[in-house]
Amino acid sequence: MNTRVLTGITTTGTPHLGNYAGAIRPAVQASTQPGVDAFFFLADYHALIKCDDPARVARSRLEIAATWLAVGLDHERVTFYRQSDIPEIPELSWLLTCVTAKGLMNRAHAYKASVDQNVAKGVEPDDGVTMGLFSYPVLMAADILMFNANRVPVGRNQIQHLEMARDIAQRFNHLYGRDYFTLPEVAIEEDVATLPGLDGRKMSKSYNNTIPLFEGGARALRASVMRIVTDSREPGEAKDAESSHLYTLYRAFATHEQSAAFKQQLEAGMGWGDAKQALYDHLENLLAPMREKYVDLIANPGRIEDILQAGADKARKLAAPLMQELREAVGLRNLNAGAASGKAQAKKEKGKGARFVSFRDEDGSFRFRLLAADGEELLLSPGFANPKEAGGLMQALKADASDAVLAGLLPDPDAARLERVREALVSMSQE
Ligand code: TRP
Repeated sequence: MNTRVLTGITTTGTPHLGNYAGAIRPAVQASTQPGVDAFFFLADYHALIKCDDPARVARSRLEIAATWLAVGLDHERVTFYRQSDIPEIPELSWLLTCVTAKGLMNRAHAYKASVDQNVAKGVEPDDGVTMGLFSYPVLMAADILMFNANRVPVGRNQIQHLEMARDIAQRFNHLYGRDYFTLPEVAIEEDVATLPGLDGRKMSKSYNNTIPLFEGGARALRASVMRIVTDSREPGEAKDAESSHLYTLYRAFATHEQSAAFKQQLEAGMGWGDAKQALYDHLENLLAPMREKYVDLIANPGRIEDILQAGADKARKLAAPLMQELREAVGLRNLNAGAASGKAQAKKEKGKGARFVSFRDEDGSFRFRLLAADGEELLLSPGFANPKEAGGLMQALKADASDAVLAGLLPDPDAARLERVREALVSMSQE
C-alpha cells in the first residue's frame, strides 16, 4: 500500500509567493512521487474559526482551489476536495470530541496564546474565544484520521496539533479495542524555502509584506518587486548578494547556474533598479503561464466546482465505510441488525479477550500485536510487505501454537511468557 500524505489549507486568504514556494510547490512536487497517495483539501470549516466574513471565505476557497490547479496539481491522481463536502469529517470530529480530554485542549498553543493576550489586557481569560477555536485541534485530528494519513506535511506551528491528533487516535483505539486509526507522522520540510517579504521579514500576510502570486497580474507583481527593501549602495558599487533579500528571492525560483550568474552581476555592481527588473522578468517568465490558467479557472468556477465534487466523491468512498465502522464501534448501531446477529455480537464481545491488533508501521510494513485479555502486549510480529502475509501468520499461530513456531517470534522467550502466549492463542482458536 502507498504512503498517504495529507495536508489542508485554511481558506481565509489569497495565496502569495511565499505560500507558493514554501507550501504549494513542494506539496505538488511530492504528490508526483511514486508510492505516494496525496490528499489535499481546502480546510473551509477551519476558515470559519478565524473569519466571519462570508464573502472572504467564499472568495478564498475559489482562489486557493484555482491556484492549486493552475500550478499543476494533478487532480486525477491526487484526492483534492473541500472539507465541507465531506459530512463524515464533522461527524468523526464529534466522536473524537467525546474521547478528548479538555485538559489536552487547554494546552493548545493557539488557545493559550489567546488566553495570555486576554490576561495581559486585563479582560476575562476566555474573552472572544469560541468553541471553534478551542476545539480546532479535534477537527484537525478528524481531517487526518478520517483518511488514515501516514504523513502530514505542515509548518512548525502545527507540530503540536499533530501530536494531539496522535494522542486522540490512541485514546480512541484503546477505548474501543482496535486500531481503527493509523497514527500520523508529522513531516516538517526542512529544506523548503522561507521567503523574505518586501521588508526582509518572513513573507506573511500578518506583516503585510507579501508579493502576490497571481492576483493583480503582472502589474501587481512588478509593483511589489520594485518595493523590495535594499541597502543604499549605488549602481557600480559591489553588492553583498548573500545578505540581499532580492537575491534570496531570486534563488528560490532559479537554477543553480542562474543564481550564480545573478550573484556575480550583483557583486560586479549591478544597480538595485536593474536587479529588481531582472528579478521581475524572471518571476514573470515563470508565473505568466500559470497565471493564464489561473485567470481562466477563476472565470470558469463551474469547472473548479466539478473537480472538487469529483474529489469529494473519491474522498467519501474512503470516509463513508470507515465512518460506518466507527459508528458501530461506539455503539451507534442498527437496532434490527443487532438483534438478527445476536450471535455474532456475542462472539464479538468474547473477542474482547485475547486478540490480534494489526497496524501499519512507519516504514509502511504490516505488523500485528498479540494482546492478552487485559491488554498486555504478548507478542509483536515482524514487518510484512503485505497484509495477507501478516494475516497468514495470525491464522497459522491460532492453528499451531507450538514452541517451534513461537520461538522465532519471541526474541527471548521465558517459560511464563510462552505459556501466556499459548494460552491466548488457544483461547482465540476456540472462539
Ligand atoms: N491547521 C492547518 C493550518 O492552519 C490547516 C489544516 C486543517 C490542516 N486541517 C489540517 C493541515 C489537517 C494538515 C492536516 O495550516
